[in-house]
Amino acid sequence: MESRYLSTILEKHFIGPIKLDISLGPLTTLGVGGKADICLWPATAEDLAYLYHIKAQEAFPLYILGGGSNVIISDKTLHGVVLCTRYMSSFSVERQSDKAYIEVGAGLPLSHLVAWSHRYGFSGLEFAIGIPGTVGGAVVGNAGVKGEAVSQAILWVETVDGEGHVCRWKKEDLEWGYRTSELRDKDVFVSSCGIELRAESIELVEAKMNEHWIKRSSQPYHYKSAGCIFKNPEGESAGRLLDISGCKGLRVGDAIVSEAHANFILNAGQATAADILALIEKCRKIVMERTGYMLELEVRIFELG
Ligand code: EPU
Repeated sequence: MESRYLSTILEKHFIGPIKLDISLGPLTTLGVGGKADICLWPATAEDLAYLYHIKAQEAFPLYILGGGSNVIISDKTLHGVVLCTRYMSSFSVERQSDKAYIEVGAGLPLSHLVAWSHRYGFSGLEFAIGIPGTVGGAVVGNAGVKGEAVSQAILWVETVDGEGHVCRWKKEDLEWGYRTSELRDKDVFVSSCGIELRAESIELVEAKMNEHWIKRSSQPYHYKSAGCIFKNPEGESAGRLLDISGCKGLRVGDAIVSEAHANFILNAGQATAADILALIEKCRKIVMERTGYMLELEVRIFELG
């Protein structure tokens, strides 16, 4: 695929921005990653439809990037198209006396939804305070904290497949797991979803949010990171296992295991994806040797090539 040729075709009808030879690191919270041939930001449903129409003819690889908060993008150049969801951030609400039905675009930051529920007194997403990323990413990865996850508030999810077909899935028709959903394995793009929240006093919503916020205060959110790197093994905490195995402070290049919470790897300067991945392997090996647990990744590795 010749990227200039492809961008010329896309530019004919695409409304959102299209950029060539873009560094992906700044589009992620960890701040690492190589370049992409083409990055585009669909602004409308027509943009998406046009993109898939051209993809059917030109057959280029397509990668989806939401808030970039749960991914490690490799240092290699991506020969393909990266679709960034951030401009797909529609938001509409239908309020009833005891409930709110919200239709939300995949690119809306999850924090906006949480802030809205706080302001107007709707319960169901208090646990999500402080979780970075977009609604689409949160839905696909079923983001959450211990015992609570985004799926609890979902009514339906709308997806677009490789041929541009739009499909609306009821929550019950999809499988939801710990930090995952069936959507991960389907070759589809989440474009929007329906959320249901319950009316509650603002004070109570705020009190629950504060509780979650206090729990999060041990986490190093003011540094560049991808949140928790590993999943918690059943009945255990990955952070605790990494901590008792002596991983805090381990370093490869500018990638460092946080001293505050061992399940966070920080980019303390100019870390590369290779540094982060090497540190991950080092930690897994040490934890395996010392505790017998083989930690599984929670973050997604975005392999480019
Ligand atoms: N702990 C240590 N050392 C550490 C880190 C934790 O001993 O370095 C101990 C804590 O003292 C505590 C236990 O491990 O007794 C659990 O730690 P914590 O309460 O921090 O929760 P967690 O299981 O490590 C999970 C989620 C977080 C989420 C918090 C909210 C996973 C993998 N992590 O962390 O999610 O913010 O609960 O309480 O499920 C994320 O998904 O990116 C994420 C950070």
